[in-house]
Amino acid sequence: MSAGLRARGVGVVIDGTPILDGVDLDVAAGEVVVLVGPNGAGKSTLLSVLTGDVAPTTGTVELDGRPVASYRARELARRRAVLLQQQRLAFGFRAREVVEMGRAPWHRSAEAERDLEVVAAAEERADVAHLATRLFPTLSGGEQARVSMARVLAQSTTLLLLDEPTAALDLQHQEAVLRVAREEAAAGAAVVVVLHDLSLAAAYADRVCVLAAGRLRASGTPREVVTPALLSEVYQHPVDVVEHAGHLVVVPVRPPRAPATAPAAAAPAVPVPSADPHQEQPCPAT
Ligand SMILES: Nc1ncnc2c1ncn2[C@@H]1O[C@H](COP(=O)(O)OP(=O)(O)O)[C@@H](O)[C@H]1O
Ligand SMILES: [Mg+2]
Repeated sequence: MSAGLRARGVGVVIDGTPILDGVDLDVAAGEVVVLVGPNGAGKSTLLSVLTGDVAPTTGTVELDGRPVASYRARELARRRAVLLQQQRLAFGFRAREVVEMGRAPWHRSAEAERDLEVVAAAEERADVAHLATRLFPTLSGGEQARVSMARVLAQSTTLLLLDEPTAALDLQHQEAVLRVAREEAAAGAAVVVVLHDLSLAAAYADRVCVLAAGRLRASGTPREVVTPALLSEVYQHPVDVVEHAGHLVVVPVRPPRAPATAPAAAAPAVPVPSADPHQEQPCPAT
């Protein structure tokens, strides 16, 4: 039995429109696979097929050697945790209760004895312990995303599927969430992360998969995939890739900015002169 995820020939057609076509993807235990691609490429749809929430029109998905559709709901929830792109609002729930929802699949199992300790560790790792008593809908977008990340961690699964977990996060927490993703992989989990930030993808992925118009356009190590030619083509915008401190950094090519405008042409930094000719005129700023 192979641990991890194996998708073969996955196609999804919605209302006669092909959304995904012939996608093959393997994610092994211990590996972080980052999925990138333009808006509407099919990343979230692919994730929902990998989670078993959407049945593909064609193709198969196996989790730990068995078709994902053959798992009962609780069994599946003990194996894979999902961070959706859109946070569900969880009206009336406090942050702590949202994190505790991650423990639901383990109710009435020996694992439930660890609930308190696991929830505390998950809150710590997602930096949300100080938000525990706050009502979830009153949290900022980034705080909500981190609480949801803590819920995913509390679920204690060996497959994590994270759809744009860093989209609402500040720089510090973006790095922290991806470090946690790498820690989970180091501890034996298979991790799939959808990202838009290609420099983050290059820094944290074992493998980068590029989805474009519903097809897997490329898959390989960051150095194989994060190239100016491929990214410029896929994103239809010229892109440079530079190296900084051992990491690839992806920079969109931009026209140079116009030189700083002369003070006289700048927005009025000086008070508008009075119509009264006797009033002293202020010196223009230089
Ligand atoms: N239920 C749906 N009905 C119609 N179109 C859909 C549905 N779900 C997704 N799509 C379309 O499929 C394409 C891929 O969507 P999605 O997987 O969310 O893309 P991504 O996550 O890469 O931005 C988009 O064009 C989207 O509008
Ligand atoms: Mg999406």
